[in-house]
Amino acid sequence: MNFRRVVIIGLLLLSGGWSTAPGGEDTVARELILSQGCLGCHAINQPGGTLGVELKYVGQRLTADEIRQKLLYPAAKLPRSAMPDSRHLSVAEINALVNYLTTLK
Ligand code: HEC
Repeated sequence: MNFRRVVIIGLLLLSGGWSTAPGGEDTVARELILSQGCLGCHAINQPGGTLGVELKYVGQRLTADEIRQKLLYPAAKLPRSAMPDSRHLSVAEINALVNYLTTLK
């Protein structure tokens, strides 16, 4: 293994960019919750809007698949849902949100 490769791997490990540990994904999810305006309608372990339900225990109510469906097609079960869809996000971003929300119990 040459020196440059060692440095690159070291940097990846330091930055956490190589790990799929929940910590990294959680951070992505929390940033998305801020940047996507979820808090405008939901309280999620921090104060937020009241148009949507409090999501503190959403992992008790919904399965990962149900949360994913809600994010991608909010109106699927509730045609008049006020919630915007998140289909513009990448699969990895949706996964991060789903995994994070599933842990809220
Ligand atoms: C414009 C307001 C609005 C925004 C923004 C919004 N939601 Fe919602 N959301 C709602 C409303 C209203 C409901 C409840 C009615 C429904 O199911 O559509 C809901 C329901 C949900 C549910 C299902 C909760 C349950 O117990 O059934 C989840 C999960 C959810 N939202 C996540 C999110 C996430 C994550 C974001 C940000 C990416 C977000 N919402 C952004 C309004 C919003």
